[in-house]
Formats: sequence, structure tokens, C-alpha cells
Amino acid sequence: MKQLVFISLLASGAAQAAETHFADADNTALVDQGASIYSMNCAGCHGRRLQGQALWQLRDQYLGRRAPPHDSTGHTWQHSDEELFTVVKMGKFSTTPKDIVSYMPAYDGRISDGDILAVLAFIKSSWPVGIRASQAMLNPGFEGMPKDADKVDWTLPPNCTASFQRWGETSK
Ligand code: HEC
Repeated sequence: MKQLVFISLLASGAAQAAETHFADADNTALVDQGASIYSMNCAGCHGRRLQGQALWQLRDQYLGRRAPPHDSTGHTWQHSDEELFTVVKMGKFSTTPKDIVSYMPAYDGRISDGDILAVLAFIKSSWPVGIRASQAMLNPGFEGMPKDADKVDWTLPPNCTASFQRWGETSK
């Protein structure tokens, strides 16, 4: 009996580990929901047009980071959906060094997980097809790859490292 419980615990642990978060930018209802969450919670720092704070590349006088844009001029699209989910929920990436001062709030307990995915879907829906294709390559199974990615002419942006990371991983 004990063994059975142990096995089922193991199985549920594995199921959890395999579950990754995905924000569906083709779901228009989700995108609309995300747009209003964005304007209420995120636009004040990341900009109403997703343009980010002025001088976002530089740290401020307290050595904090400014809010980067979420449009194609920033680097939001260089992270997988799972990583973006983590940064919104926890306020930082799991890999962020402890001494980095971040003004990104943790939304855990302030908005639901579903709302986090909605706001990410809204952000992703604003990207041109090349950016979306590039970001989708960071998701397991290339989830979120635009349907017409192979029909439209597009090139990867010059500052694109996402696909290189992905190719590095898949060619291991
Ligand atoms: C108080 C200002 C502020 C608010 C409000 C805010 N952010 Fe941020 N956000 C930041 C800052 C500053 C960073 C950069 C953190 C760093 O690099 O250490 C950031 C980083 C991020 C990143 C990582 C981007 C990247 O490419 O590294 C994402 C994604 C993000 N924010 C999404 C959101 C979302 C979604 C909301 C609303 C639910 C939100 N933020 C609200 C300030 C804010």
C-alpha cells in the first residue's frame, strides 16, 4: 500500500514537472482580457504602447533596472512562455542573480495564473510574425508558431539570439 502511494506521488510530480505554461496569442478572447489587465497593471511602467521606460537600457541612479519594452525593440520575445510566466509571477527570472535590484513587481497573489497568461498572450499578439516565430522556437514543441510562418517572407531580427539558443539545444 505504502509503495502504491509513493508511486502515485512520483507520477503526479512528474506530471507537474512536464506541465509548462503557454499563452495562446491566437485566442482573441484571451488577448482582449490580457489587454485590460495590461493597461491596469503593467502600462504604467512598460508603456501604454509596450514601448518601455525612457532610457530602459541604462540603470537608474539607484542602480535599479528600468522597465524594458515588450514590443519588438525589447527582449521579452527572447524568452520562452514558461520564463515569462515566472518573471511576472515571481518578479524575476529563476536565473536572476540575487544582487540585482529589480523593480518588476511579483504578481503572485495579485492576479491569477490565468490573468498572467492572458497578459502574455496580449503582449505576444502585438509581435510581427518573425518575432513570434522566433519566440515560439523557445517553447517546447515550438508551441505558438504562427500558422502562416512558412508562407510569409520574414527575416529574423538582427538582435535575435533566441533561435540560436534553441538550435544549440536541439543540436546537442
Ligand atoms: C513598477 C514598474 C513595473 C510594473 C508595474 C511592471 N513591470 Fe515588468 N518589469 C519592470 C522592470 C524594472 C523590469 C526589468 C527587471 C530586470 O531586468 O531586473 C521588468 C521586467 C519584465 C519582464 C521581463 C522582460 C525581459 O525581457 O527581461 C516581463 C515579461 C514583465 N516585466 C512583464 C510585466 C507585466 C506582464 C506586468 C503587468 C502584469 C509588469 N511587468 C508590470 C517593471 C515593472
